[in-house]
Amino acid sequence: MKVLAMVGSLRKGSYNKLLLQAAIELKPKDMQIESGDIGEIPLYDEDVREKGFPAPVQKLREQLRAADALLFVTPEYNYTIPGVLKNAIDWCSRPPEQPFNDKPAAMLGASISRLGTARAQYHLRQSCVYLNIHVLNQPEVMVADAAKHFEAGKLTDENARKLITQLLLNLEAWAMRLQKR
Ligand code: FNR
Repeated sequence: MKVLAMVGSLRKGSYNKLLLQAAIELKPKDMQIESGDIGEIPLYDEDVREKGFPAPVQKLREQLRAADALLFVTPEYNYTIPGVLKNAIDWCSRPPEQPFNDKPAAMLGASISRLGTARAQYHLRQSCVYLNIHVLNQPEVMVADAAKHFEAGKLTDENARKLITQLLLNLEAWAMRLQKR
């Protein structure tokens, strides 16, 4: 099973990048997780799109199409998802054949506040409705007080590690169920 991850932070020391690393460590053995590159995507411009998708968008759209499932790993910025992630989603969502359609997905996130990306994840779920992405409901993985839960680049919170393991098992089962329709 091929899973494409989209991480909503570009910074080198990102907790969310580390969260993705934890997911890669904890994934079921038949799952491959690849990360899409959203860092080179320009700001959305309809005039540009009318002339054709920029190369980084084209690449991400192809990766999305080829994926059996999606994994969003997002911080929270001002109570919603970061602009870089929204921008990538906006570009990829444009016709023809928007590549998010009918894909199973899961989400998780880490932030330094006590709500651990809850508000951002609920906003992201709202966009997923429009895009016809089938997002897993449970478990919810919201790593709060992120600075306390990573050490030397590793997620150390045992509860979060258990939840991520379960999230990926559920995603695998969810994607298989949807494939059998
Ligand atoms: C934040 N941060 C933040 N945290 C949070 O829990 N809720 C929020 O609304 C915000 N808002 C916010 C806005 C902006 C512009 C920035 C730069 C940051 C803090 C955020 O959780 C923290 O910077 C994380 O470390 C970001 O994730 P990465 O980059 O570590 O993955």
